[in-house]
Amino acid sequence: MVRGKGCALFDASGKEFLDFTSGIAVNCLGHADEGVARVIAEQARTLTHTSNLYHTEPGATLARKLTATSFADRVFFCNSGTEANEGALKFARKYAKTRAQALGKNAGDAAWETVSFENGFHGRTFGALSLTWKEGYRAPFAPGLPGNTFTPYGDLEKARQVIVKGRTCAVFVEPVQGEGGIYPADAEFLRGLRAICDEADALLVYDEVQCGLGRTGKLWGHQLIKDAEPDMMSVAKPLANGLPIGAVLMKEKVAAVMAAGDHGSTFAGGPLVCAVANEVFDRVSDPAFLANVTERGNELKSSLTEKLAGHPRLREVRGAGLLVGVQFDCPTAPLVAACRARGLLTITAGKGDILRLVPPLIVSSAQVQKATDIVKECAFEALR
Ligand SMILES: Cc1ncc(COP(=O)(O)O)c(C=O)c1O
Repeated sequence: MVRGKGCALFDASGKEFLDFTSGIAVNCLGHADEGVARVIAEQARTLTHTSNLYHTEPGATLARKLTATSFADRVFFCNSGTEANEGALKFARKYAKTRAQALGKNAGDAAWETVSFENGFHGRTFGALSLTWKEGYRAPFAPGLPGNTFTPYGDLEKARQVIVKGRTCAVFVEPVQGEGGIYPADAEFLRGLRAICDEADALLVYDEVQCGLGRTGKLWGHQLIKDAEPDMMSVAKPLANGLPIGAVLMKEKVAAVMAAGDHGSTFAGGPLVCAVANEVFDRVSDPAFLANVTERGNELKSSLTEKLAGHPRLREVRGAGLLVGVQFDCPTAPLVAACRARGLLTITAGKGDILRLVPPLIVSSAQVQKATDIVKECAFEALR
């Protein structure tokens, strides 16, 4: 690929593609956005990097916006989704040790294990990888971080058995599972997890790296459900529209246990990426922008349902906002290849049996219709 504009990508031969991947749920404002380009140029002429020895205005402003619009009191910036989850793991360990000491116990006896979910994806570095369900990602590098237990997504009874007071320090969950197959959590499940974590004195961590920041039509994915707030939340992919940034949002009780120097990163929260993230945040958090995501997402789902009706391998169309999966009972790689040949970029999810559609959040109704026409043409030919 050599250039992009809005929802379009162009390859070296000049061929145009309608991009329903957004760089894996990243380019929320599309490609080569004028506002983003202007902010990059202005900030590059002002201040690009200082390291985390100093606060900068773009970072402080971004932290204020993220906390003002969420459950969180404080933010730690990093460079990616996996790093956000690594940060959350460290914060959870230290929180548990500090709590144990406050209760007169040895720090060495504090809870340190974690729980995560089947089909969950949290990243590729050792800690985050150890929380990630797919064995193919973990096995070549085993053993991973010890002490994580996987339990079925959506099953509160099983979750209750493995989230144990004094043993579990944190529970990691995606409010809408992305890589694992586009599974939105139901209200009862997230609220139930909140209650179980409170009883077990474990921190509830939402991984909103894929489903956060407008992708579901809500600013935060878990806001699809009332009364299910986490203690921490990891955010990354769309935050700077393609520049590397991640963030861990947290309650004050978690932030309070971390001292300066406990965690850090040279590049994290630099003024350039934070200036871009401020631009992204301001535009994505506009209620009119979010309403359009909901409308286009509903249109995408209903159009797929209608156009694929009667397909013999189709099982389900599901998702939230513009995070949409089409479940077939066979591998979807041939469908992805056929769509690409006809100028539509898509990706798979789950065990490869799901077609994942994650367009830029600025996608238009005409583009949704064009994409679903191509999926229809290709699905009946490529998947029999
Ligand atoms: C839910 C979730 N968490 C974490 C990650 C890892 O993010 P990154 O690739 O930025 O490290 C991803 C990436 O796909 C993700 O979807």
